[in-house]
Amino acid sequence: MPSDIDELRRELDIVDVVSEYIKLERAGNNYKANCPFHPDKTPSFYVSPSRQIFKCFGCGVGGDAIKFVSLYENVSYFEAAKHLAKRHGIKLNLKEESSEKKKLHEIMERVAELYHSKLRENRRVLEYLKSRGIESSTIKRFSLGYAPASGELVRLLKEIRGLEPYLKTGNLLQVEEDRYRDLFRNRLVIPIRDASGRVVGFGGRLLEGEGPKYVNSPESGLFKKRELLYGFYEGISYLRELKSALLVEGYFDVIALHQEGFRNTVATLGTSLGREHAQLLSRVVNRVYLLFDGDEAGRKAMRLAVPHLLRAGLEVFPVFLPEGLDPHDFLLKEGKASLKALIGSSVSVFDLLKKRIESGSDVENSLKDFTYYASFLQDRIRAYTLLSELSRITRIPVDVLSAKMYKAPENSEEEDESRLSFTEKVFLKGLMELRPSVNLDELKLSTKAREYAQSIINEEYYPVPEDVLNLKVGDIEREFEASLSRLRIDIPEEEISEAVGVRESVREFIRSHKGGIRPYSVRRWRGKLES
Ligand code: CTP
Ligand code: MN
Repeated sequence: MPSDIDELRRELDIVDVVSEYIKLERAGNNYKANCPFHPDKTPSFYVSPSRQIFKCFGCGVGGDAIKFVSLYENVSYFEAAKHLAKRHGIKLNLKEESSEKKKLHEIMERVAELYHSKLRENRRVLEYLKSRGIESSTIKRFSLGYAPASGELVRLLKEIRGLEPYLKTGNLLQVEEDRYRDLFRNRLVIPIRDASGRVVGFGGRLLEGEGPKYVNSPESGLFKKRELLYGFYEGISYLRELKSALLVEGYFDVIALHQEGFRNTVATLGTSLGREHAQLLSRVVNRVYLLFDGDEAGRKAMRLAVPHLLRAGLEVFPVFLPEGLDPHDFLLKEGKASLKALIGSSVSVFDLLKKRIESGSDVENSLKDFTYYASFLQDRIRAYTLLSELSRITRIPVDVLSAKMYKAPENSEEEDESRLSFTEKVFLKGLMELRPSVNLDELKLSTKAREYAQSIINEEYYPVPEDVLNLKVGDIEREFEASLSRLRIDIPEEEISEAVGVRESVREFIRSHKGGIRPYSVRRWRGKLES
């Protein structure tokens, strides 16, 4: 049965829709324009009336008419559909949409059950979990599972009429050579539940062989990483009762800590903690202990998470783990009591910085951190009290300190994000994670993206847009390099006008120019940086 969105798609003509926003020029059977999503001097944005899609060969964005509006107006796909339906006098049935969602939830639950039963009969995987100290009751509580490679998932989906709805979200399956393959095959699967306990996606951990350590459900209407915290549902009554959360980085940290009695532990799904995560936590707790890995990445993650938590009105208590240990390691090595003591001895981020300043260690950075963090407090009286204390300690006048505070322009964040093209977001993400030495002058960046990039390079505090922080990047080095190629070359028009919508030709083009356009290898930069 076609959904209303399909119906709407049939009613719309992409050329009309796009023309309401930008001026299109005819180019053979297609239309072209300067791309509205990235700074574009030559028209690299194409619209194909026959395929009813748009595609930019500069920044890589593409999709149908609804997607165009959602990008242009910076609203969700669903919002854009509603908007378009209204404008074109088409009735969208919202109830239909939600029953479709219900079906997806049912399917997910059945799939989780299948995986769980497969784990129960897999001695090898059970051995693995046992060797990591994970008990049988924990396996049950978290409904851990195993995805066999034998096509059982496809059989189940066919049986419960779940194949068609699933193809839309790509949440479970891959299509490979016209065959459906289980995205998580041969992996340990960790079902991820939303705050009301419904399974909305999975994380799949590699147990042996080649491949990425984790494969996760891709972002979809059902599975929104920026709104989900692993362990939140499983620990909800403890979060409520204790009024505090332990924030960790990994699925396994959550699982192991819950097992050992720290049942208020939650983690993001491999992304940085953002505004929505902080808001979700602030609904049930007052305080968040940050237990990030004792390495550079962990420290960076901590610095990015704190502003969001403070802005949501939460108290933040950083807990420092020894270098190279994650919370699970620490637990195995030092035991429950030590972890409890470590958490118990932590102080709030402001007390911590105050102590550092008083003791004269790293004063300049600590001062900077203090005023920066204080600027995210919604309680202005509290912020002022803290700055007064700081002023007493340092003898720096309060107005000098408050002049140092970061002033977030009201609601500017959303605007800034919408001005970044997808390619720029990938580029910024790569810049943050890989820290290569790039020459910004050689890249075709918008003013906004350049500002962000410069501040990342200078390691200045600057609120990197959440869109960038939460960006899902599969292979960061490869995607970063691709973004660099896109930011510095104009693909000649004649070579691509034929290729509208045919992604393969673009790939081919980039491949054939690889020697010429690949500026330098990221690995080499890193080598240089490290030496
Ligand atoms: N992650 C991911 N993709 C990867 C690696 C990590 O999505 N290729 C995310 C996962 O959410 C993971 C988290 O980052 O849980 C932390 O990574 P890591 O510490 O490597 O994983 P753990 O879950 O702690 O697994 P383990 O203890 O088995 O190493
Ligand atoms: Mn880990």
